[in-house]
Amino acid sequence: ISALKIASVSTMATQDEVNPGNVKQQLSKLFEASLKATVPNELEIDVEPLVAACTAKFGDYQCNNAMGLWSKIKGKKTEFKGPPSIGQALMGNLPECDIVESCSVAGPGFVNIVLSKNWIAQSIQKMLTEGIGTWAPRLQIRRAVVDFSSPNIAKEMHVGHLRSTIIGDTLARMLEFSNVEVLRRNHVGDWGTQFGMLIEHLFETSPNWEDEKEKAVGDLQAFYKESKQRFDADPAFKERAQQAVVRLQSGESKYRTAWAQICEISRREFDQVYKRLGVQLEEKGESFYNPYIPGVLKLLAEKELIEDSEGARVVFIEGKDIPLIVVKSDGGFNYASTDLTALWYRLKEEKAEWVIYVTDVGQQQHFEMVFSVARMASWLPSDVNLYPKVNHVGFGLVLGEDGKRFRTRSSEVIKLVDLLDEAKNRSIVALTERGKAAEWTKEKVEETAEKIGYGAVKYADLKNNRLTNYTFNFDQMLNDKGNTAVYLLYAYARICSIIRKSGKDMEDLKKTGALLLDHADERALGLHLLQFAETVEEACTNLLPNVLCEYLYNLSENFTKFYSNCQVVGSAEETSRLLLCEATATVMGKCFFLLGINPVDKI
Ligand code: ARG
Repeated sequence: ISALKIASVSTMATQDEVNPGNVKQQLSKLFEASLKATVPNELEIDVEPLVAACTAKFGDYQCNNAMGLWSKIKGKKTEFKGPPSIGQALMGNLPECDIVESCSVAGPGFVNIVLSKNWIAQSIQKMLTEGIGTWAPRLQIRRAVVDFSSPNIAKEMHVGHLRSTIIGDTLARMLEFSNVEVLRRNHVGDWGTQFGMLIEHLFETSPNWEDEKEKAVGDLQAFYKESKQRFDADPAFKERAQQAVVRLQSGESKYRTAWAQICEISRREFDQVYKRLGVQLEEKGESFYNPYIPGVLKLLAEKELIEDSEGARVVFIEGKDIPLIVVKSDGGFNYASTDLTALWYRLKEEKAEWVIYVTDVGQQQHFEMVFSVARMASWLPSDVNLYPKVNHVGFGLVLGEDGKRFRTRSSEVIKLVDLLDEAKNRSIVALTERGKAAEWTKEKVEETAEKIGYGAVKYADLKNNRLTNYTFNFDQMLNDKGNTAVYLLYAYARICSIIRKSGKDMEDLKKTGALLLDHADERALGLHLLQFAETVEEACTNLLPNVLCEYLYNLSENFTKFYSNCQVVGSAEETSRLLLCEATATVMGKCFFLLGINPVDKI
């Protein structure tokens, strides 16, 4: 047993992908070694170490392998009498290390671990000098596509697209933080049949459309409505509109020009939203993939995946009642043909190893089918956990106060720009009430209000599990108490001001000062800081931004407790405590960044 133990410890040391800040990963490695030493290898049992943070008063983490292990080895020739004795052995076989201060076995074999506070302190101090990048997740991939926002040209961008924009941006940021190259894709709907009626209406209402540009279209929403009305009411117009689609899709230049002009107007409207939110996206709309569709369908046909059904071309998928239609009965392509082609392009041409789609849950079935076909074509491995990997990140509805879909009073779709502006304006009012309008320049008030207002909208969305519907409420999201961005931004500004007012050179302190965690509240804060690494990793790999929000809120609570019980400036522990403040500001700042929220260091 002891020979085995040494062997596992030494292999551990050579693994460089272990994240030094990731406590769970570090402990898992230790228990992996202990498991190998505990279970005689002739039993050939495959066990993964089960390590989790715990809130029990007996420890910081727990190893929960004993019970499962017992059910596997009982009845076989074994020295163990039950889970508790396995727990004892796991504890005894734990390799020597700096991480663990003490262990105990509780109940049916749980191994409780108390971390060494010196190790926690040193890890934090190391992060302070080497940068928080050292706590970034280690993913096994280099490139990912995040397909998000993706509104439809000529239609209003609605709250669903806002959710997609906010959630998608955060996921992209977490991946970028993990050193993954992210292709941020705006898969705009720019190729539907609606363009026929729009273009035809444009030609008929403004013969000089080419010179008049925007004036010819005017308000795009109204223009859309007008053409839709004609399309529905006038069969002859409908006929001409359908002709126009064919001429556009066959590439006739006049039609292409009109199409591009309409796209451009829409794009400018979308950009107003992206600018406010500070979101970067690269547009590769549906039209981009159009020329590739025939080739991709040919590949699928060669694999004998496509068949005829009621005049359409379809792919039948095991376990699904309906097939995926890839060519409509009129010979045209559809949303699915485009998405299959886009997936092929992303995997084969762009060499993405993870493709993530952020849309409402209503599109789940569509994506499941597209992914199934990609697996049938062997573009993806059959094991969904292996790379290249695809995920649909679904989210729920945005509801109004009445519990129904979020609309304006006159039941119109809410303009996102107006919504964001209202968040900002309400923040200006709040800042003015706090006397900031008199104290600051107008620019500073505006800038701060934008950070708070837009941050509040983002955080209110991200803090919920994305699958649930969430109720949009300005009063709630802009409250400076409770789990809101406003509360968190104030907490952050307060920490920055403690550091500023100390008058100490923090860069200097980082190099010369020592961080100690003697007070229970210092230790609790320190442990929580250290858990940043495993939390982002979880949020990123499980595609759950709310996990990071919850962490951030708890961090702020931990800090408040520490700050109310431990004097910082002027105390004997001043240096150490200032370093703890600095570490908290660093981690909070990174959380804000990952959530797409701009912090304010003075409020
Ligand atoms: N344009 C679609 C919509 O508004 C979303 C597109 C999502 N991305 C995709 N590859 N299908 O619902």
